[in-house]
Amino acid sequence: MREQATSYLHKYVNDDYQRHHGEMVGTAMEAVADHLNVDDKEIYYITGLIHDWDYDQWPEEHPHRYEQLQDELGVNDEVITAIKGHISIDSPRPTLLSKTLFACDEFSGLLYAYMKMVGSYGAMKPKSIRKKVHKDKSFAAKIDRTHVITAITELGEETGIDEESFYILLRDAFAAKYDS
Ligand SMILES: [Fe+2]
Repeated sequence: MREQATSYLHKYVNDDYQRHHGEMVGTAMEAVADHLNVDDKEIYYITGLIHDWDYDQWPEEHPHRYEQLQDELGVNDEVITAIKGHISIDSPRPTLLSKTLFACDEFSGLLYAYMKMVGSYGAMKPKSIRKKVHKDKSFAAKIDRTHVITAITELGEETGIDEESFYILLRDAFAAKYDS
């Protein structure tokens, strides 16, 4: 299923950053699933990987091409519910999968931007990540901090993962995968 989802992503997303973003969000979600010991970790990875699949070719329809996604990749309703949940801060997120996607999505973008600045994920201290999230809003200004903070809080309320632990979880997952 992982391979199919990756081929699916590559079929519809040509932009290198968008492909990388999907992979990062999948990696982040899998790390959360692993930390929480959920049974089906693969669904976390796949949901993250493909959550923006239609953005490259149909930005004005994103992320509403659910039928095509279901028909062609055969994902279940849980994945669709999670993707619907990342439309906006007000979208319902009734499941752990949907809360995890929402928390990992924009925050992965912020960590990527920060890595570009400091050179590696491993170099990021939780305290300086916190500063980038809460204070330094001219950094990666397009990333809506209310969105990021709400999403991490929401996941924390469900799982007990506090904000700093969430930073560390994602930072370490990205360092293991991308730092060389
Ligand atoms: Fe995204």
